Formats: sequence, structure tokens, C-alpha cells
Amino acid sequence: MYSEKVMDHFMNPRNVGEIENADGVGEVGNAKCGDIMKMYLKIENDVIVDAKFKTFGCGAAVATSSMATELVVGKTVEEALGITNKAVAEALDGLPPVKMHCSNLAEEAIRAAIDDYKRKNGLLPEGGDCNACGRRCDDIHHGIDDDED
Ligand code: FES
Repeated sequence: MYSEKVMDHFMNPRNVGEIENADGVGEVGNAKCGDIMKMYLKIENDVIVDAKFKTFGCGAAVATSSMATELVVGKTVEEALGITNKAVAEALDGLPPVKMHCSNLAEEAIRAAIDDYKRKNGLLPEGGDCNACGRRCDDIHHGIDDDED
């Protein structure tokens, strides 16, 4: 049912943990199952130099978060925003159709963490669209680790 790569990233997830003083932190939840993913990004000169995650979720969610952290490191912020859940699933040699929704968490967590980074650095227009969800950027799921606003 699961590819070898999925099993590998589930059994030995890469980049688990947190980054102290992360430049962007995003936390998202999967409405379908209640699972939660938190993504930490370290960004230097617009390039993601480190990524870590914590996922409270199913095996596919763990494997996709692990792969997502591997995919974003070395990418520019804009390149990372182009990473889709489909790309993450493909990098894992696919997911069973009933588990594709789990990979949404990884895509949304990357976007939420980048939004957080952009917001902290004044790179989002006031009240601008949020990459994670299209809502205003001061909505509740941002600013988890800061209390600036
Ligand atoms: Fe919740 Fe997979 S079942 S993310």
C-alpha cells in the first residue's frame, strides 16, 4: 500500500524538532482528521537554509512533512511556495489515494511558515492575502510563536 520511500520517511523521519529563533513558523491543521503539523524555517538572504517539523498525525502526514523539509532546504522563498502537495507525494513515489489529503498538511505548513516570515519582515501588504488560506494574515493560525499583534 505504501511505497518504500513513504515507509522510510515514516520510520526515520528527517528534520524532526524545532528551530530556535526560526524566521518563520507555521502551524496548520487538517480539518478532515484533526491532525496538526508545525513547520519551522530558517531563512537567510531569501533562501531556506534549515527546516524542521513536528507532526501530530498519521504515518502519511509524518512522511510528507519529512519529505517537505528535505524539499524546501536550499530553495528560495518563492520557489518553496511553488511546492505542491502533489510534488511532495511524488517525491515519495506516491501515496494511496485515500491518503493524498494528508499531504495537504505539508504544503499548507510550508506556506503558513513563509507567511509568518514575510509578515514578520514586512513583506506582506497590510491585510494582504495569506498564502496558506486566502484569509487575512492576522488570522489566528499565524503568529503562533509571537505576540506582536
Ligand atoms: Fe490526518 Fe493523514 S489522516 S493527516
